[in-house]
Amino acid sequence: MSSTGESSSAVAVEDLTKAYGDTVALRDVSLSVAPGEFVSVVGHSGCGKSTLLRVLAGLEDDFRGTATVDGTDVRTEGGHRVGMVFQEPRLLPWKTVRENVAVGLPRDVDPDSEAARERVDALLDRVGLSGFEDARPSELSGGMAQRVSLARGLAYDPTVMLLDEPFSALDALTKYEQQDFLLDLWRDSDLTVVLVTHDVEEAAYLSDRVVVLGGQPGTVETTVDIGEGRPRDREEWLVPYRDRITTALGVE
Ligand SMILES: Nc1ncnc2c1ncn2[C@@H]1O[C@H](COP(=O)(O)OP(=O)(O)OP(=O)(O)O)[C@@H](O)[C@H]1O
Ligand SMILES: [Mg+2]
Repeated sequence: MSSTGESSSAVAVEDLTKAYGDTVALRDVSLSVAPGEFVSVVGHSGCGKSTLLRVLAGLEDDFRGTATVDGTDVRTEGGHRVGMVFQEPRLLPWKTVRENVAVGLPRDVDPDSEAARERVDALLDRVGLSGFEDARPSELSGGMAQRVSLARGLAYDPTVMLLDEPFSALDALTKYEQQDFLLDLWRDSDLTVVLVTHDVEEAAYLSDRVVVLGGQPGTVETTVDIGEGRPRDREEWLVPYRDRITTALGVE
């Protein structure tokens, strides 16, 4: 597969500038992500990471430049298949786990149909939550709630998964488990992943490539290729990559 040319990119952003009133969140951001690639975006608070994901998810239509997913402009209604996972699970507390995941089904699927139920239950199985279909969000741990949110994102049958700091609210041990869980899911699928994180080691451990955003408004400072094979451990090889990313971030 060619890695050049927009049409072969799962995600292609060119000269993206996004302002909220007088606040310019992103300026002239360009990046592309190949199909099946795992890319992380790191940067200081306020540099526009969430804004970038919101643009890719089709949640913003007022911007300059171009943003495409699978070659389709993100502003095309229903034209691209992305799943989004937010920092907080954002589950509806009065709905069951199954009902929360069903919220993510495409509009043309009747959520009350048997087919929908089978699809949702298969997704819950995939994220390791079989047996919790009828539980309420308040009965779940933080890691489980985040996996419901992941299943809800997958319900749309996305080609591209966008994750906005999905593990930052979890304790260290749960975070490691969830990171490995995400890696397994990605490896066993054709998904392209764009993950936003503050956590430099997380970015290096998980990704094929790390895009460092800097400044306010945010621009791409540098891109670091993580040339480590998989499966990976969390050992010394990480250190030089972590140092390159933190240097690009201007962190001592
Ligand atoms: N809806 C909005 N209205 C006005 N300004 C906004 C809005 N959303 C974001 N901004 C501004 O755009 C800039 C980028 O915000 P964004 O949320 O994308 O940053 P971020 O990199 O995700 O930060 P964090 O790491 O804290 O989540 C900030 O200056 C923010 O105040
Ligand atoms: Mg953010």
